[in-house]
Amino acid sequence: MTDAPILITGGAGFIGSHLADRLLAAGCHVRVLDNLSTGKPDNLQLTHPRLHLLEGDVADATCVRQALQGCRAVAHLAAVASVQASVEAPVATHQSNFIGTLNVCEAMREQGVRRVVFASSAAVYGQNGEGQAIAEDTPKAPLTPYAVDKLASEHYLDFYARQHALEPAIFRFFNIYGPRQDPSSPYSGVISIFAERALSGRPITVYGDGEQTRDFFYVGELVELLVQALLAEQVPSGAVNVGRNQAVSLLQLLRAIEQVLGRLPAITHVAPRSGDIRHSRADNRRLLAHYSVPLETPLVDGLACLLGR
Ligand code: NAD
Ligand code: UD1
Repeated sequence: MTDAPILITGGAGFIGSHLADRLLAAGCHVRVLDNLSTGKPDNLQLTHPRLHLLEGDVADATCVRQALQGCRAVAHLAAVASVQASVEAPVATHQSNFIGTLNVCEAMREQGVRRVVFASSAAVYGQNGEGQAIAEDTPKAPLTPYAVDKLASEHYLDFYARQHALEPAIFRFFNIYGPRQDPSSPYSGVISIFAERALSGRPITVYGDGEQTRDFFYVGELVELLVQALLAEQVPSGAVNVGRNQAVSLLQLLRAIEQVLGRLPAITHVAPRSGDIRHSRADNRRLLAHYSVPLETPLVDGLACLLGR
């Protein structure tokens, strides 16, 4: 049974490909299902004998069923990760971000696979942050189709846990960053864009005054956590925040990049994005109580790694 693969949906993307590397290093067999919309085959160790890439869509139930055959657990990461993309194309993103989750749940029920790690998001809390750390039981206020789909996915996973004995480990990621986060779209993660611009000398655009805050978490530490949740005997029920409990404003982020690189390009401020969250900081007590998380990578160290310093 230990040769049974772990399925990573969205495994050719930023977080998924780091998870694939970590699982391969742990001796696991890994199967990746990805439609390559933002993910890239080059992110994966394609010649590794224990890695298998299937190109396909989580919105296609047949495809998900086939991908899950013989697997022992699933990391369900496939989604359109851009909040702004969901604001502009809610119907299209709903297929990936919600129907995809339902297809994974149904295929697991049919095939008796129990453990699923799910990539939910801090976006489910909406503007509830107000600057203080947000605990998991804070009332949810999803502001965008992306956040609504993540919250609905969580509720469905909870239903499948009660009704069909699925064992979901639901993580609400705050802002994850690190190597391989694709900076090529205006909707990409802010650190990937700022780092790429700072390295190339192209101007940086800040939406709003730059005082909005995020809780940035390094991808190398995230995948340690995901592996624990995939392989543990038991996982806690209910969602778990993944953040450092540190609020960093975009202006502080720019100063940290300058500290690492010794320079910054020109910076322009434009109007804030619609649906943008002002403050986001994780209360991470549940995370620290249930998992062993290193939290050894402060932002400047993660940035130095990303900026090749
Ligand atoms: P990413 O875009 O690099 O990865 C997403 C992967 O899913 C890509 O490889 C993409 O090709 C694939 N994909 C998208 N739609 C698909 C579909 N319909 N069928 C199959 N594959 C599909 O983004 P990421 O940052 O690695 O995000 C991974 C997960 O983590 C997503 O669910 C995202 O919502 C969630 N998340 C990310 C962050 C973050 O800060 N990066 C924070 C919270 C939650
Ligand atoms: C990010 C993730 C989302 C996740 C959420 C959890 C991505 C693309 N988005 O959304 O999947 O669910 O964290 O907290 O990974 N900004 C600029 N200039 C830029 C780009 C962004 O000022 O060039 C600003 C944005 O307006 C926002 C902040 O930076 O205020 C962060 O934006 P972004 O990285 O897109 O992240 P979130 O919207 O927080």
